[in-house]
Amino acid sequence: MDRLDKVLANLGYGTRKEVKSLIKSGVVKVNGMLARDNSLKIDPANCKIEVAGDNIEYRKNIYILMNKPEGVVSATFDNFDETVIDILEPEYQAFKPFPVGRLDKDTRGLLIITNDGELNHRLISPKNHVDKVYYAEIDKSLDEYDVNRFKNGIVLKDGYKCMPALLHIMESGSDGSRVKVIIQEGKFHQIKRMFNSLGKNVVYLRRIQFGPIKLEDSLDEGKYRELSKEEIEKIKKI
Ligand code: URA
Repeated sequence: MDRLDKVLANLGYGTRKEVKSLIKSGVVKVNGMLARDNSLKIDPANCKIEVAGDNIEYRKNIYILMNKPEGVVSATFDNFDETVIDILEPEYQAFKPFPVGRLDKDTRGLLIITNDGELNHRLISPKNHVDKVYYAEIDKSLDEYDVNRFKNGIVLKDGYKCMPALLHIMESGSDGSRVKVIIQEGKFHQIKRMFNSLGKNVVYLRRIQFGPIKLEDSLDEGKYRELSKEEIEKIKKI
């Protein structure tokens, strides 16, 4: 059981103080009865809450898919830069969500944001072999030799041997290459460091898939949406 004011604040109806005056103003109903007591104890998952005539759907967890833009950091707070959480509407921020893993500030693309800590652990653990698919542009040409280095596990400059990864060359020439890379780990700057150890540089990086979740073309950079029920079921099976 939770206090009514806390539940409404968690749902994004304002600060505890704002929510108290909302309740006092007589627009909140619980199971059809007017509720004027902000300390009323309710079971939010099993009661009907209405605010100004709107039915409220209570949920504990949120699952968001964002097309992260360049220049924004994957963190809940930053002293200097805008974060992916700053982009969210206050009604989502109220759930205290955090990004699942990180994308570099200059990397774009698919980022899952949730407040489900258990799912987060499962998704980022390399033990679970979750495929992360990236589209990348590289400053130099690539060939079968590079594909095999990825397949056999690239050794980074600090001596760490990466898990086998898939490099698919879409286009390669003297002015650079366009590739798809699939990795199952998520080490700091991993893709950039993998190409660096081949003597090449990543000039553009965008994540396009995370496990079974794909980034659709219609979701513009900087935009986000909630994952569908089916998508949530799929990632919970990982
Ligand atoms: N690899 C990188 O180098 N950067 C990212 O943001 C993600 C994977």
